[in-house]
Amino acid sequence: MYQQAAWIISIILILFVIFVFLYVVAHSGRRTDYEPIQRKGYRIRNVWFLAVIAAMGLATFYTLRDLPFEKPAHAADSTVVQVKARQFGFVLSQNEFRVGEPIAFQVTSEDVNHGVGIYDERMELLAQTQAMPKYTNTIYYTFDKPGTYQVLCLEYCGIGHHVMVATITVAPAEEGKGN
Ligand code: CUA
Repeated sequence: MYQQAAWIISIILILFVIFVFLYVVAHSGRRTDYEPIQRKGYRIRNVWFLAVIAAMGLATFYTLRDLPFEKPAHAADSTVVQVKARQFGFVLSQNEFRVGEPIAFQVTSEDVNHGVGIYDERMELLAQTQAMPKYTNTIYYTFDKPGTYQVLCLEYCGIGHHVMVATITVAPAEEGKGN
């Protein structure tokens, strides 16, 4: 059935292209006939070009004006966690935290490029960075809900990419300390 529909649609579209081609051939005039149309077309194109430049310029300004990102104010009192990615897993120096505890994940790789994405229980991405060999990227993050979180590789890194998973558990905030 799909095959038949595909055939019929293909033939209709082929006939349409042939029709357009023949129509254009039959109605084409001399080159001079097109000048007014061409001029109008170029004017529209110039306006659009400027509009696109303006839109892209504004978008660039608004999305990049915060760069370079500064360290968060609490960076100095963060719990420092070493995250080493390798084919095919993650080694975290610590994977149990508390709500409200500022954490600095120092991410690197022992072999190829990996990605580190921290996901909540609904599999929503909370924070991510690249795990690169001979280089450390830091994610500053503070969990605001207790629960189990997953760390997944976000960069295709080989046959076992999909098994690169680590787990983080976050306990409720300590007594007497709000979050
Ligand atoms: Cu490591 Cu994908």
